[in-house]
Amino acid sequence: MATCEIAKGVYWVGAIDWDVRSFHGYSTNRGTTYNAYLIVDEKVTLIDCVKAPFFDEQVRRIKEIIDPAKIDYLIVNHVEMDHSGGLPRMMELIKPEKLFCSPMGQKAIIDHFHREDWPFAVVKTGDDLSLGQRRVQFLETRMLHWPDSMFTYLQDEKILFSSDAFGEHYASSERFDDQVNLPVVMEHCAKYYANILYPYSPLVQKLLQTVASLKLDIKMIAPDHGIIWRDKLNTIIEAYDAWSSGKCADKALVIFNTMWHSTEKMAQAVMRGLEDTGVPTELLNLDACHRSDVMTEILRAKGVVLGSSTINNGLLPEMAGFISYMKGLKPFDKIGATFGSFGWSGEAVGLLTQAMTDLHFTLVDDSSIKHKYVPTQQALDQCAALGKRVGEAINNH
Ligand code: FEO
Repeated sequence: MATCEIAKGVYWVGAIDWDVRSFHGYSTNRGTTYNAYLIVDEKVTLIDCVKAPFFDEQVRRIKEIIDPAKIDYLIVNHVEMDHSGGLPRMMELIKPEKLFCSPMGQKAIIDHFHREDWPFAVVKTGDDLSLGQRRVQFLETRMLHWPDSMFTYLQDEKILFSSDAFGEHYASSERFDDQVNLPVVMEHCAKYYANILYPYSPLVQKLLQTVASLKLDIKMIAPDHGIIWRDKLNTIIEAYDAWSSGKCADKALVIFNTMWHSTEKMAQAVMRGLEDTGVPTELLNLDACHRSDVMTEILRAKGVVLGSSTINNGLLPEMAGFISYMKGLKPFDKIGATFGSFGWSGEAVGLLTQAMTDLHFTLVDDSSIKHKYVPTQQALDQCAALGKRVGEAINNH
């Protein structure tokens, strides 16, 4: 197993999860990595652990470099189990002199592992720490994406250990951005942002401003998932700026769930209307598209049109689950409309409209169409006109 020295005396000692395909509802079709880092200095320092089943892999990587018992400090940037699952066994193995974490990190570690006796050293934004020849500085990043989250900045090598931020679920034997197919990785970065960080976009904006105001000279960004940025740092920083500020393409999505194809016919008609306005449009059937991929498209599209048949006075199950998922991720600054077929009562369209209202989407005029059973040509023409209104709103925004 080759060691990976990412800078002089700084090593990647994480684990590669080639098999994981679901991350609490987010489809991780390329697996992921749980990154962790070892700084060999007078105080040997480990930054982060890995998911519990990967503990042995992490220890094997550490042993390639140093006897784990020689580790003095353990820094926990984030307590979620994919980074702390191995913590109890690591504490037992290395018995560190100190365990550094944020104030909320200490609370979360105790709530997870019930070990108030561990040698906690709580650090706050601006605190720094000498490792001997090097110093690290801490930056709390509360709610990015957990209350405990923080960054650690290694001053001499100018490496920002950024926890979940700037990462992506992408298993790879390569470690750096200049070794991989970057457009493919960026697609996974967008998916990661859309499905994890999207609700915290205002905080991402503030964080980017804070990092700029601290004038940190950053030569490398080392996240806890995926590849390490050493070449195209601006690519990922600019993408985060765009995603968190709501910049997206003048394109539209028609997202639907259909029972006996009537809502599907309406979806196709809405799409035709959108295309007539020149707005690129994607048709996304929730029976065929995973919710987390749909969220990635929502991140990047200005217009969102939702359609569902009504079943048992509500939404079809795939749409109901999607609406719950989407509302939690809080997409913002979208132009919207809704449609659907029904048999008796027709509540689905109202529920979709309510979801858009809750998210403060801008609804176009006459933003909802519902039609009983199979749509007539007249109903399909009305759907096309709805698509046209959405397209015109996108073109004029
Ligand atoms: Fe990768 Fe929030 O854990």
